[in-house]
Amino acid sequence: MAAPSKPRDHLAPHHIDMGDRGIYHTGNRLNDLTGKEWVFSTRSVINKSFPPSFQFELRSRHGGQKPPELCADLVRTFTKAGAKVLDPFAGVGGTLLGATLAGRYATGIELNPAWVHIYNEVCRLENLEPQRILTGDSRTLLPTLEEGAFDLLLTDVPYWDMDRRRRSTGTFKRAGGQATERRRSKLSTFNPETPDAPAAAATSGITGLDDWLALLGDVFTAARPLLKHRAYLAVFIGDMYHSGRYHPLSAHLTGLLDSLGYTMKANLIWYDVSKKLNVYGYRYEFIPSMTHQNILIFRNE
Ligand SMILES: C[S@@+](CC[C@H](N)C(=O)[O-])C[C@H]1O[C@@H](n2cnc3c(N)ncnc32)[C@H](O)[C@@H]1O
Repeated sequence: MAAPSKPRDHLAPHHIDMGDRGIYHTGNRLNDLTGKEWVFSTRSVINKSFPPSFQFELRSRHGGQKPPELCADLVRTFTKAGAKVLDPFAGVGGTLLGATLAGRYATGIELNPAWVHIYNEVCRLENLEPQRILTGDSRTLLPTLEEGAFDLLLTDVPYWDMDRRRRSTGTFKRAGGQATERRRSKLSTFNPETPDAPAAAATSGITGLDDWLALLGDVFTAARPLLKHRAYLAVFIGDMYHSGRYHPLSAHLTGLLDSLGYTMKANLIWYDVSKKLNVYGYRYEFIPSMTHQNILIFRNE
């Protein structure tokens, strides 16, 4: 058992003793964390496990839902109490629930009314006041929001349905063997692509990398005037393995955000301990069993 912390007799000016939480400095301009909590929050790998909470089964109808507790940790790291958080790709509300847990206000935008309905249902079942969630396309709704109002943009970007794309490599050959037709990709079982991707692709018109980057370019451009100067962005993005090659989507998105004038600050790795390992490429080639996602940290400065 940990020894109880000793009372501190001599606190420096601007220091507040928060007991087991550690010492809080009143000059902390970024968040409400103590020094001890700050050290923990700056670790570049997140390997905590998160409980299946907040109507997990219901939220899991959306294959890309994020743990509200993880979102709450990010909200607490990048904002102070009462701050405003924006999520232009809200899904079933991982960010919005995280903001509620952390005592912040949030505004989410979601294209698919089915996901908005699930978020509202989760709030009803959990007896939570829903955050503001708008149904529609972020490209048209973002320009209607208050300029300079948001302290953090926390989001998890959509993917597209890669299986609809025509394969560039139709056949493959094992050493010494005859060329055979490439099997249908099992991509959806081992990467962060979500079951909602076909729906999102159908309505957003995303059919490939260029369309995807164009959508994200439009959304992150429209979001910029809404963010306060020096507000952070935390963006979940998983890389993909598809059609025989690795697609570093995090690198593409990093380049895009950089080109829009945001400043990169970190690439956090979320090691999702709940992900099962699958066998891919056994005996023939190395194919990663993806158990992590990147959380790109940028700042509007
Ligand atoms: C990866 S999911 C977000 C999941 C979310 N983090 C959660 O916890 O539920 C991305 C979401 O973006 C939505 N989306 C795609 N294009 C959009 C657009 N142009 N405007 C608003 N939402 C969009 C998709 O419908 C999808 O639900």
